Amino acid sequence: SRGKYKTFDEAIRHLNLKPDSQVLDLGCGRGALLTRIAKQLGLAGKVTGLDLWLSRDQSHNKMAVTQKNVDDLGLTDRVNLVTGDMTKLNFPDASFDVVTSSFAFHNIKNEQARINAVKEAIRVLKPGAIS
Ligand SMILES: C[S@@+](CC[C@H](N)C(=O)[O-])C[C@H]1O[C@@H](n2cnc3c(N)ncnc32)[C@H](O)[C@@H]1O
Repeated sequence: SRGKYKTFDEAIRHLNLKPDSQVLDLGCGRGALLTRIAKQLGLAGKVTGLDLWLSRDQSHNKMAVTQKNVDDLGLTDRVNLVTGDMTKLNFPDASFDVVTSSFAFHNIKNEQARINAVKEAIRVLKPGAIS
């Protein structure tokens, strides 16, 4: 898992995050990537972590567990957790500066659903944003 965090840190460096960036993390699970991003934001920044909290994809997968991880790290004001399906996002177009996802797309077994998830990620990005 040390390699996983090294990869996250390397990827985050390329995101060009601003203190007020609005970020969406798809399939956030227990918040491994989400919390690392939240640490980079200022008070006006926010990471929305979206998940269906499927225990078949990650053990102890519950919104309350992730919320506790977020709270324990003192990141409560910079994180918003929501239940949702990444193949059918409930956000307006152009809502986010950055969309991230780690180790979640492979859990969508149906090819068309995976394509839908990519299209949805693009739809909710602001023009010129990074994913
Ligand atoms: C292997 S976990 C990865 C969690 C976290 N991103 C990480 O890197 O540790 C995959 C996550 O994707 C979520 N997931 C799978 N299909 C999803 C879907 N269609 N919409 C939202 N979340 C989904 C699962 O519930 C699980 O929390």
